[in-house]
Amino acid sequence: MNICLIVAVSNPGCTDRIREAFLEQAHSLIPGAQINQFILPKDGPSYCLGCKACFFKDMSACPHLKATLPIWQAMEDADLLVFITPTYVFSIPGQLKALLDHFGSRWIVHKPSPRMIGKQALVINQSVGAGFKSTLLPLKHSLRFWGVRCVYSVKARLGMTDYDLVEQKVKTKLNRQIGETLRKMIGRQHDASPGLMTKLLYRGMAFGHQGIHKMLQKKGQPVTSDYLFWQKEGWLDGHFPWKSKD
Ligand SMILES: Cc1cc2nc3c(=O)[nH]c(=O)nc-3n(C[C@H](O)[C@H](O)[C@H](O)COP(=O)(O)O)c2cc1C
Repeated sequence: MNICLIVAVSNPGCTDRIREAFLEQAHSLIPGAQINQFILPKDGPSYCLGCKACFFKDMSACPHLKATLPIWQAMEDADLLVFITPTYVFSIPGQLKALLDHFGSRWIVHKPSPRMIGKQALVINQSVGAGFKSTLLPLKHSLRFWGVRCVYSVKARLGMTDYDLVEQKVKTKLNRQIGETLRKMIGRQHDASPGLMTKLLYRGMAFGHQGIHKMLQKKGQPVTSDYLFWQKEGWLDGHFPWKSKD
């Protein structure tokens, strides 16, 4: 099994210790697992410049492609996507947000990758005490809008910023939850069907792109690259990617 692991921070603290705990469990539960790790900010892109080249053309036109492409390809190749992140001011750290911004053009509404359909993802979020809901939200948004079917989360309220001082019962609970969630994900791995939200978004956008295209034509505007992409894939005619998988 192939896992793409993205860790939001690189300092040797709690997040890194949780990364080690995750790796230990993943290797013991999934013998022979291939784990492709990316540790931010080192392995990630700089901030999105807002040039919109990815929206107007495609992802290959991004000035930060050297950093973004290996991560996107690793996610496409992976059976499971795993994010490990602390909470920073009730949200994800900026470097993780910068990474997600670069994949906005791969949301279902623009130029989605059919390879994301049916995938499962796990987000492990630790904080001293508060902010889980708002931290998980931006990650869940991106994952669901890329077409990921199931997003699991494990939340750890550490109560301390030094992992050696975190109570043993908190660490035991975290490890147990990681193990249980991984087992659940392994058990559901055979099902690569798209989720309801994915199907609805693809179907809705097939209409949406046709409507936008007609409106732009009336105004004498050029055809959008999103429309051409959907046309080339056959999705405007209802030949959705999961149909070839059925
Ligand atoms: C800039 C910054 C902002 C943080 N914001 C929060 C927060 O909003 N809520 C919280 O419970 N912990 C917060 N923390 C604590 C972290 O979530 C984390 O528990 C702590 O940094 C220990 O993890 P680490 O050793 O991997 O850095 C913050 C830490 C930093 C550095």
